Amino acid sequence: MTAQLIDGVALSKAIRGDIAARAAALAAAGRRPGLAVILVGDDPASAVYVRNKVKACGDCGFHSVLERYDATFDEAALLARIAALNADPAIHGILVQMPVPRHIDPHRVIEAIATAKDVDGFSVHSAGALMTGLPGLRPATPYGCMKLIESTGMALKGRHAVVIGRSNTVGKPMALLLLQAHATVTVCHSGTPDLGLHTRGADVVVVAVGRRNTLTADMVKPGAVIIDVGMNRNDEGKLCGDVDFAAVRAALGPAGFITPVPGGVGPMTITMLLANTLQAAEA
Ligand code: GUN
Repeated sequence: MTAQLIDGVALSKAIRGDIAARAAALAAAGRRPGLAVILVGDDPASAVYVRNKVKACGDCGFHSVLERYDATFDEAALLARIAALNADPAIHGILVQMPVPRHIDPHRVIEAIATAKDVDGFSVHSAGALMTGLPGLRPATPYGCMKLIESTGMALKGRHAVVIGRSNTVGKPMALLLLQAHATVTVCHSGTPDLGLHTRGADVVVVAVGRRNTLTADMVKPGAVIIDVGMNRNDEGKLCGDVDFAAVRAALGPAGFITPVPGGVGPMTITMLLANTLQAAEA
C-alpha cells in the first residue's frame, strides 16, 4: 500500500467556498475585497500566473485589477503606481509579480507596498511580524503548505519537520510557521552535505528547491508527510515536483501522506493569496 494523496485541488475548493461566502458578506456591507496585480515585462510563465490570480479573484467575488507594463517600464513609474494603489480604498491587496526586470530593485518595490496591503507577505515588516509571532499577512505558499499538513490530521507539536530550501518566499517563512506550530525544525539547503541524514528521521518534509528528484525513496521515514513545492519539467516535458513521487509514495507506506505535482501546493498558493486579500479587507 502506498501513501495517501493530499489533494490540494479539493482543499483549495473547500477553502475558496468559505472565502467566497465571507467576501459576499463583506461586499454586502460595502467592502468588496479588491486585489491589484502588477506585471512588468513579458515573461510568459508570469503572464499565466497573474491571469490565474485575477481569474481566482473573479471566481470568489473579489474586485481585481491587472496592470501590465512592458519590460522598459521604469522603477519610478512603478513606485508611483504602487503609491496610487496604496491610497485606493477599493484595493486591499497589492501584488507585484516577481521577478521584475533587472533595472528594477525588487526590495524597493516590495517595501513601497503599504504593510496593510502586503498580501504576498514579502516585506521586511511582514517577515518581522512572522519572526516575532505578531499577527500579519503570511507568504501564500508556505501558508498553503501549513493548511495541507493540517489536512492530514497530523499534530505538529513535538514532531520533527525538515525544510529543504531557504528562500525568503518559501523556505525561511515555512520554517518559522512550523516553529510557531511547535515542531522541531531543521532547515537544509544546497550546501547541506547529506540531506538524507536529516530527512530520514523527519515526520514532515517540505521540499522547495526547484530541482527534481531532490527527495528520493531512501530518504524518507514510513508514515511521514511530504509536501512538494517544486515545479519542474521532466525529460518528457511533463510537470513534476522536487520529489521522486512514485518511489517516495511507495516508501512512505499507507500511514504516509504526499502532495502530487500538479494538484498539491500549486492551487493552494492562489487560495492563500485570496485568504490574505480577504484578511486585509476584513481588517
Ligand atoms: N512569482 C512567483 N511566485 C510569486 C508570488 O507568490 N508572488 C509574487 N509577487 N511573485 C511571484
